[in-house]
Amino acid sequence: MSAAAPTGKVRLYMSMSVDGFIAGPDDGPDHGLGVGGERLHAWLRDGGVDPDSHRPSGGGPDAEVFDEMIATGAVVAGRRTFEHGRGWGGDHHDGVPVFVPTRSVFNQPAPGHARYVTDVASCVAQAREAAGGRDVLVHGAAAAQALLQARQLDEIELQLVPVLLGRGRRLFDGLPPGHVELELLRALQGSDVLHLRYRVQAGG
Ligand SMILES: NC(=O)c1ccc[n+]([C@@H]2O[C@H](COP(=O)([O-])OP(=O)(O)OC[C@H]3O[C@@H](n4cnc5c(N)ncnc54)[C@H](OP(=O)(O)O)[C@@H]3O)[C@@H](O)[C@H]2O)c1
Repeated sequence: MSAAAPTGKVRLYMSMSVDGFIAGPDDGPDHGLGVGGERLHAWLRDGGVDPDSHRPSGGGPDAEVFDEMIATGAVVAGRRTFEHGRGWGGDHHDGVPVFVPTRSVFNQPAPGHARYVTDVASCVAQAREAAGGRDVLVHGAAAAQALLQARQLDEIELQLVPVLLGRGRRLFDGLPPGHVELELLRALQGSDVLHLRYRVQAGG
């Protein structure tokens, strides 16, 4: 019997305020994180020796989480996240493929290493396959909810930022009533941010 191919985790990465927001109001391509939302990515702002890399300098948990994020072998990004990031110029990191769940029909193919997929389960299956055993990075609130409902999300990595944004887009607004059990796997205190990793319990 041949050994099963290794599979990575499908893991949501989102910076979130203590009151649950992942973007401020009026988010869009010119205002990726909305009004006031840039505060959520302050922990990434430093960039160390290479300001364009967004890698927090000085090592420690912030750099560790950043490195894990860009060690992923594929990305699943909700269509709004993808557009707000202007498709990352076709390359999110290291040329890994980007799968964009959408119900829209586009006349043009997605730019660069990205492709649109209309079925969430198929989107994740393609990302897992493309990642070749590495983890899959997931971005976007609606995308996260869709994956949760389709039981396609293995883990949730929150960067909990000590601020109350008060308005904007909440990560879990819109989920139907119900109970999703999470298991805390890791808590790392960063600089001005708490990195929390949860496993999504099967069958919750
Ligand atoms: N704080 C952070 O770390 C962080 C990280 C990433 C993004 N963000 C921000 O989060 C916001 C975007 O999140 P969002 O929740 O508004 O949007 P999103 O999850 O990025 O994208 C939503 C879109 O995904 C598609 N979609 C959702 N569920 C689907 C399903 N079941 N099947 C097929 N397609 C589906 C739909 O596209 P169609 O409308 O085309 O059908 C939907 O409009 C932006 O402001 C972004 O900048 C924040």
